[in-house]
Amino acid sequence: MKEFDEYISIVNKAIENLKLPANPAGLYDPIRYTLECGGKRLRPVLALAACEAMGKDPMTAIHQAVAIEMFHNFTLLHDDVMDNADVRRGRPTVHRKWDEETAILSGDAMLTTSTMLLAIKAGENLASALDLFNGTAMNIYEGQQLDMDFEKRLDVSIEEYMEMIRLKTSVLLGCACGMGALMAQTPFETQLQFFNYGVNLGLAFQLQDDYLDTYGDPKTFGKAIGGDILNDKKTWLLIMALKEDQTGEVRNLIGSDVPAEEKINKVRAVYDRLGLPERIHELIRAYIDTAISCLDQLPIPPDARAFFIDLALKSATRNK
Ligand code: IPE
Ligand code: IPE
Ligand code: MG
Ligand code: MG
Ligand code: MG
Repeated sequence: MKEFDEYISIVNKAIENLKLPANPAGLYDPIRYTLECGGKRLRPVLALAACEAMGKDPMTAIHQAVAIEMFHNFTLLHDDVMDNADVRRGRPTVHRKWDEETAILSGDAMLTTSTMLLAIKAGENLASALDLFNGTAMNIYEGQQLDMDFEKRLDVSIEEYMEMIRLKTSVLLGCACGMGALMAQTPFETQLQFFNYGVNLGLAFQLQDDYLDTYGDPKTFGKAIGGDILNDKKTWLLIMALKEDQTGEVRNLIGSDVPAEEKINKVRAVYDRLGLPERIHELIRAYIDTAISCLDQLPIPPDARAFFIDLALKSATRNK
């Protein structure tokens, strides 16, 4: 197995080597802008590492790994329009730097590019790779729709929230792990165990994303803080506050015309009073432990196991 950073270098080199056309610049420049400005590359690293853990050269899965990263970046362009977000990875979002039409169309082009990449050198794995990829994509759209539907509701349960984040975020991490195993021609049962590791990691990952949206340092996190509160997103934090805040303060702030700063500070103060930052981290740790326990059923060497354990533990405490 390689170090995390070595896998990132492999992914970044493959992304640099993508030959995107120069024109029309209005379509391709925003794609270059999105891909060149970083990101943790977690999903493609998972794909390459899963492939190598199953004893194959990680380059066997490189096109599929880049396809998944391209797809992820496409979802971010559209998500930022939907969430009215100004900043991503420390820079203006595509719909702010250009406009919404651009974010929609460049996003569309990234989606199609991702399916083209997925097919490259997929060989006899093509049909199963497409099945996994397209099924995951449909789940993500369903999750994103639920995320928006929930903005308008006050009675979202924790169970509904967990299902929503499983769909919008976790299955893509599962897909990345499963894809690496699939490209290594691993038996289906083993692919599924890898998928389950990724899904549990993904649940912890989105819970931490929600925590950072309120408590992160915008310079490190790369996104504006408080966007979820301003959008009335039904995060674990807000659902718990709605349930437990006896004063009704949070409920009154939802949909109110209180100025942005004030709304964020007041909601955060309720979260603090209820001890939610500590409690969300207990939950995150529980999903990380479940992810790690999925590794027990995997026929992988000790260094691969150590890699996936380390990655899971680091995700639980990430600040970007
Ligand atoms: C952002 O994903 C969207 C979520 C699912 C929370 P990442 O936090 O992996 O974004 P980048 O690619 O590192 O910027
Ligand atoms: C991201 O959820 C899910 C997808 C992009 C599919 P968020 O809306 O929380 O992601 P960020 O915080 O904007 O990255
Ligand atoms: Mg968003
Ligand atoms: Mg969103
Ligand atoms: Mg978020």
